[in-house]
Amino acid sequence: MGVKIIGYGFYVPNNVITNHDMEKWMDTSEEWIVERTGIKERHFVTVGEEGTSDLAVKAAKKALEKANISASDLDMIIAATLSPDYEIPGIGVLIQSKLEGCSLIPAYDIRQQCSGFVYGLELAATFIKSGKYKNVLLVGAEIQSVGLNISTNGRDLAVLFGDGAGAFVLTNSQDDSDIIDSVLHSEGQYYKALWKEYPSIYVRDRIRQEDIVFGRHYPAMNGRFVFKHASTRMPEVVMELLNKTGIDLEDIAQIIPHQANLRITNMIANRLGLSSDKIFSNIEKYGNTTAASIPIAFCEALEEKRFKRGDYIITVSFGSGFTWGANLIKF
Ligand code: COA
Repeated sequence: MGVKIIGYGFYVPNNVITNHDMEKWMDTSEEWIVERTGIKERHFVTVGEEGTSDLAVKAAKKALEKANISASDLDMIIAATLSPDYEIPGIGVLIQSKLEGCSLIPAYDIRQQCSGFVYGLELAATFIKSGKYKNVLLVGAEIQSVGLNISTNGRDLAVLFGDGAGAFVLTNSQDDSDIIDSVLHSEGQYYKALWKEYPSIYVRDRIRQEDIVFGRHYPAMNGRFVFKHASTRMPEVVMELLNKTGIDLEDIAQIIPHQANLRITNMIANRLGLSSDKIFSNIEKYGNTTAASIPIAFCEALEEKRFKRGDYIITVSFGSGFTWGANLIKF
């Protein structure tokens, strides 16, 4: 059984936040942000107006329209996010409810942070290849902005992230497959290199006053350590996937990496010996949208004609956990 990508779409909130806006809120500069990350602007929700599931539904509707099927045709939802609307339940069920016409299908939430979409694609493809499910909606959605420390104390992370969502509709096929293979990894010993400690199950009520006072409810990162691992693991897993599948790097029309940092993307290109036109970047417009970055980049790369139907592409990601992986797609 093969797996086809029949729909794709993305959505970002209207509110554009420039680096100059960041300069008003913290001790930073346009120059520092662009030089260290490549980011010029990102999109933030207006607090309280949209939830992560709303972004997900807007992206999903575009993907369904492209696929020319309706929500009632879906057999499963897989939603990747680290920023669900609520702690309980996840956003999978909220998407099922908000996508009018959806029947009582299973709805998964997965939690692989920046690697969520790459992990989700392997999961969706495996479910479809098993023959049990036909049409699967895979969504990566994220609202990072409301959970960041937007001040000088949190500036290392605050300038990096943006909000958005991207979705694929996948279906079965008796002929060839778009999803050829995937390689996934994790290395949990480094979970504290990029994490958010509170709310945590280790304290009564999951958070104490002092945790809020000391800002332990904000994400924290060892930036250089993450940078080093991301820029090593992503090219490594691309080569592992190529070796596994017997495809040559020259046959890949486009590498679509998770948009973490332009310097990381450039290092992947250097390490693989690729010219910059073979690896896609749109981080300057959106920042790091975590689980949404790959489907957003996929849609824009396609729009820019970086690849076309019939081409091989690779999506590759690295994120908190650590988790990383890559998918080989013959689109
Ligand atoms: N504006 C201005 N200065 C900032 C800043 C900001 N937004 N954030 C940090 N700085 C300062 C630091 O305080 C430090 O100052 P100091 O030298 O006086 O102590 C200086 O800039 C250098 O900080 P450093 O952390 O060493 O910078 P860096 O070159 O490693 O760049 C990151 C920082 C975060 C851009 C970089 O480490 C990175 O991109 N890491 C990976 C992040 C990532 O991709 N995470 C998600 C993975 S999925």
